[in-house]
Amino acid sequence: MTADTLFSNAYQASVEKIIRISEEIGVSFPQVVPDERGIYNQEDPAYWTGGFWGGLLWLAYRACGKRELFELACEIEQAQDAALEEFTGLHHDVGFMWLPTAVTHYRETGCGASRVRGLKAASILASRFNLAGKFLRAWNEEQREDSTGLAIIDCLMNLPLLYWASEVTGDPRFRQIAAAHTDTVQRTFVREDFTVPHIMRFDPETGSALGAVPGQGKSADSVWSRGQAWAIYGFATAFQETGRIDYGRTACGMAKRFFENLPEDKIPLWDFCAEGEERCAKDSSAACIAASGMLKLAPLLADKEEREQMESSARELLAALIRECACFSPESQGIIKNGTVNFTTRRYVNVPIIYGDFYFLEALGRLKRLPGIF
Ligand code: GLY
Repeated sequence: MTADTLFSNAYQASVEKIIRISEEIGVSFPQVVPDERGIYNQEDPAYWTGGFWGGLLWLAYRACGKRELFELACEIEQAQDAALEEFTGLHHDVGFMWLPTAVTHYRETGCGASRVRGLKAASILASRFNLAGKFLRAWNEEQREDSTGLAIIDCLMNLPLLYWASEVTGDPRFRQIAAAHTDTVQRTFVREDFTVPHIMRFDPETGSALGAVPGQGKSADSVWSRGQAWAIYGFATAFQETGRIDYGRTACGMAKRFFENLPEDKIPLWDFCAEGEERCAKDSSAACIAASGMLKLAPLLADKEEREQMESSARELLAALIRECACFSPESQGIIKNGTVNFTTRRYVNVPIIYGDFYFLEALGRLKRLPGIF
């Protein structure tokens, strides 16, 4: 079988699986398949992963045009409204939550109510900008105490919401905030070897960067593989949105580092610095995110050799995911096994995760030259 056929079959099988499980999962907010029963759990709609099931339905709907998937995605978007209304439970992850649902709906149909939802979410994100430090505050005290000065690498993935808000309103403020935050991340998070920490602490009054602090990685100076993947994708987006070559260089450096750190089977460990028994935990979701980000980045690269190398690395990641982790059978509702939510707290280790499934399908779609969502 050629690689193209492998990818095309995996794309088709994923879409068919989503059609199959859509009625079982229905209007809900799954995060992980926690055990051998093979059933996605249910999270609170205000949890940061609340947009991915709706996003998977949109990706599948684009592929098959089945009206039921469209209607279910719309119902999920409406079920998110209580969280938007409640407001206090929300933090920087509003991009993860409303880009795959409301913003995608607006892009597909021009729905006015979806536009309003997206703009509300973008306004919440923009309001988290710390002017002294030029960073977006990540969490509220409910998620982590003493968090006024904390920014996290994952936040780069929320920024497309700001670029979109500028595009639809014609107001540059949203994208100015996105670029200012990205500059701060590039200056303070990105290490000389193109790796990144998960969390950076700033003095919220003076804005000075005080240093990395421990997060979901092994330590403040290790390389949490999903954080590295968020950064690849995030800088690829920044490059696409602004045309700035330095963002493109950073994204390429990070992708190269990610690839060099993979074990033989090409499925990343949860942290590239994991040792001994810590090496039992994989994080396939990092590979899914990195592959989709690299496929977003590749066509933006001017140098042909670099472009082909980037695409070829992403294809290698996807082939490994299909070989080592994919499950298209009904034994589990998850598509991609071996994701790890948080190894430091032993929270969901080596299980299917909804964002692994989402970015896997998004990446396979990119190979078909279909647009992504982020
Ligand atoms: N954005 C949180 C995580 O990647 O686990």
